[in-house]
Amino acid sequence: MTTTNTRMPVTKAVVPAAGLGTRFLPATKATPKEMLPVVDKPAIQYVVEEASAAGLSDILMVTGRNKRALEDHFDRAYELEELLARKGDEDKLRRVRESVSLANMHYVRQGDPKGLGHAVLVAEQHVAGQPFAVLLGDDLIDPRDPLLSRMIEVQQELGGSVVALMEVEPSQIHLYGCAAVEANGFGADVFHVTDLVEKPEVADAPSNYAVIGRYVLDPAVFDVLKKTEPGRGGEIQLTDALRTLSTLGAEEGGQVHGVLFKGRRYDTGDRADYLRAIVRLACEREDLGPEFRSWLKNFVGTEMQG
Ligand code: UTP
Repeated sequence: MTTTNTRMPVTKAVVPAAGLGTRFLPATKATPKEMLPVVDKPAIQYVVEEASAAGLSDILMVTGRNKRALEDHFDRAYELEELLARKGDEDKLRRVRESVSLANMHYVRQGDPKGLGHAVLVAEQHVAGQPFAVLLGDDLIDPRDPLLSRMIEVQQELGGSVVALMEVEPSQIHLYGCAAVEANGFGADVFHVTDLVEKPEVADAPSNYAVIGRYVLDPAVFDVLKKTEPGRGGEIQLTDALRTLSTLGAEEGGQVHGVLFKGRRYDTGDRADYLRAIVRLACEREDLGPEFRSWLKNFVGTEMQG
């Protein structure tokens, strides 16, 4: 078992972005779904901004096929920058450069997309024995509802690993990993996770608490992942590894805690949620909002009738 020191600070984030994104075909035939724009920024930039805002300046992105667009997005674009500079277009120049200085970006290939658990496992060498955050590249948390900093705080206080939980309708639980929880006295939003099940049928779900795409993990997860057999969908599931971790003692890097999130979250890998994210964020934008809201009101009030 890897030796762990749970009180080591969390400084690194791993962002898995190597999934096939089949729900978004054909858009994802040649482009990773994480590059799909949410208003005018790719989804992945919101995720990297979130990690950076939580103080994580070292980000390892796990990429798959079509990785170039992801790497290019966080790199300089000299020709474009020069052109905009020559035109004196400072605003667009600032927007082009915004993504470059957010964090120290590193990349690793997953090879075969064998599941989220496998994507996390390829980060082992980079993480180098420290607790680390995982942010799913297609899961967007509204920046006004901070979650990751609270999860890091809980990990630093309690050790072990921390998952993010969100209450969902029972009819939706089959789409998520689901957690059985009990109070642990650390705060109204923090639970001890006693069991985890990946995408259960509603009758088998131990609760309405869905695991969403933010984790702070003890490096003991790597040894567990290496022994985790492919589960649902033939993929190595992170949820299965976390379930094993929840049964281990604290001295083995075990124990899983859950932080309940009540804020705004969008699964940009799901087409309907992707559309909701765009509409909501566009409505709230200072530059686009007023015109878009007025169009939307008219659209809903007239064209949507009947
Ligand atoms: P999803 O469960 O949404 O899978 O992955 P997917 O394959 O990308 O999407 P669909 O279902 O075919 O449309 C959740 C997150 O885990 C990453 C994805 O990129 C996404 O950010 N992932 C998933 C990997 O990095 N590798 C994998 O093997 C699987």
